[in-house]
Amino acid sequence: MSTAGLTDWAYPLAESLLAEPLPRRWAHSLGVAERARIIAPILDDDAELLEAAAVLHDIGYSPDLAKTGFHPLDGARYLRDVANADARVARLVAHHSCAWMEAEARGLREELESEFPRERAELSDALCFCDMNTTPDGIPTNPVDRVNEIAGRYGSDSLIGTFIRRAEPEIMACTARVLERVAAVKRQPM
Ligand SMILES: [Fe+2]
Repeated sequence: MSTAGLTDWAYPLAESLLAEPLPRRWAHSLGVAERARIIAPILDDDAELLEAAAVLHDIGYSPDLAKTGFHPLDGARYLRDVANADARVARLVAHHSCAWMEAEARGLREELESEFPRERAELSDALCFCDMNTTPDGIPTNPVDRVNEIAGRYGSDSLIGTFIRRAEPEIMACTARVLERVAAVKRQPM
């Protein structure tokens, strides 16, 4: 399926949902999309799909559409039911950055996984990499600082704090896999 034009559609949609009510979350989303552009060479034809999912990944925080309070599911349902989005974008948003682990803690794992099948691992790794290498303000960071910031912000005993520590090894592993793919692409002769 062609993904041409996906970013032209995704940026204004994400902006309309986040920029005014949640400007910091919008700045973060733009930063995550910028990381997606940087690693585009590892995704070939799916680079635009990744960038669209990156700019939209946190729309579930928008007060316009938050329903369950679990933002990956709220965002993905909005994309599927209201925005009539490409199914792959909705799936990537549903599963972004180890969402299944937080879904499990919230008793929503079955709902999440039955409604939204996973996309291929290279894509979900790439989105996790982009999110976990971007600060809440949209600046490049590393996953160690990022996880520590999240745990500190929510509190280590909170649901999110517990989730992010459980997800930490997978976040580090997906970052390593993406960096290896980036290095492999750079090694290829032009
Ligand atoms: Fe998120």
